[in-house]
Amino acid sequence: MHEIIAAQADLADRTIKNSWPAWLDILQSSTGLFLALFMWGHMAFVASILLGETAMWTVTKFFEGYFIFGKSHPGLVSCVVAFVALVFVAHALLAMRKFPANYRQCRAILCHAKAMRHEDSTLWIWQVCTGFLLFFFVSAHLYQMFVWPQNIGPYASSDRVWSDGLWPFYLTMLLAVELHGGIGLYRLALKWGWPNAPRGVLRTLKWGLTAFFLVLGLATLAAYMKIGFEHGGHYGERYMPDWAAAENTSQGDGQ
Ligand code: HEM
Repeated sequence: MHEIIAAQADLADRTIKNSWPAWLDILQSSTGLFLALFMWGHMAFVASILLGETAMWTVTKFFEGYFIFGKSHPGLVSCVVAFVALVFVAHALLAMRKFPANYRQCRAILCHAKAMRHEDSTLWIWQVCTGFLLFFFVSAHLYQMFVWPQNIGPYASSDRVWSDGLWPFYLTMLLAVELHGGIGLYRLALKWGWPNAPRGVLRTLKWGLTAFFLVLGLATLAAYMKIGFEHGGHYGERYMPDWAAAENTSQGDGQ
């Protein structure tokens, strides 16, 4: 009897001590939530191109501190990129725990989802596949933004998208990000119970948000492609509104 009680106490003790998986899960959820919310803000800033070149130039210059210091500091953008990259790496590392580790596990989850025709299991598989793609795409994107933050702007970005031929890269990343983020937020809501709504309502909300950001993202990409196409003959030339050009002729500051 004594042995059983001791064994039970030992088990309870180990269970309490082993709270690591729960903490890692909380960390994974919070880094995912941060990245999803960041993407909403990011999409709004990048989509400013839909309001015209001057709107996007203003957003770019705001992040470079131009309106505070009277001079552009692209290094400020690199600092933000470095922070986002850290969160991204942490999120990816934590997510790796959930990836199928070998062929047998892979086959098991695929058979399971197929046999059950369970929508949430199928969504999970999509999330793993898009997450895997994002390892490569987002790393390359963040590297570029970190090393060449001065090459962000209405013409510089459009040249990259069109003349440098990166639009297929952005199109793939956009599809992967929106699917991954939408499914991720839906799973977070189910897991932590906020908003505490029925599964059907959450699913509708999820697809609504995904559709909204996909349409906005595609329209944004089309705008960069169009500007890049029209600007092709002046590749490398930077955009600057007339008033700023007059102020900065001596510094050659602008995008
Ligand atoms: C602070 C970090 C980031 C900065 C400064 C940044 C900046 C930009 C800029 C300026 C563009 C327009 C195209 C270009 O200039 O190359 C862009 C496009 C894009 N970025 Fe980022 N980005 C950041 C982080 C991320 C992350 C973490 C993701 C994904 C998880 C992401 C996904 C995308 C996508 C999908 C597009 C294409 C959007 C479209 O054309 O509709 N970005 N980003």
